[in-house]
Amino acid sequence: MLAAVEEGLGSCPQAAIATWASPIKKHFDIEEDYKLLCGLSIGYPAEHKVNTYQPAKRSVENVMFAPTSK
Ligand SMILES: Cc1cc2nc3c(=O)[nH]c(=O)nc-3n(C[C@H](O)[C@H](O)[C@H](O)COP(=O)(O)O)c2cc1C
Repeated sequence: MLAAVEEGLGSCPQAAIATWASPIKKHFDIEEDYKLLCGLSIGYPAEHKVNTYQPAKRSVENVMFAPTSK
C-alpha cells in the first residue's frame, strides 16, 4: 500500500471478499483450491468530498502500548 502511494495511487484493503467471494469468483478465474483472504482495491484517488472523510482513530500509543500497572 505504501508502494502504491509512492506511485501516486491509493488503495483500500477489503477482507470482506473472504466471506462474500462469489462476485469476485464470477469475474476472475480462481482455482477451487485457492482461498481468498483479502482484496486490495487500487486506483487514483478522486478529488471528491466523500474522500475527505476522516474517521476518529485511537492514537498509536493507545493501540501499540499496553498500560503499565503500578
Ligand atoms: C486487512 C484489512 C482488511 C479490511 N477489510 C475491510 C472490509 O472488508 N470492509 C471494510 O469496509 N473495511 C475494511 N477495512 C478497512 C478499510 O480498508 C479502511 O482501512 C477503512 O475504511 C479506514 O480507512 P483509512 O485506513 O484510510 O482511514 C480493512 C482494513 C484492513 C487493514
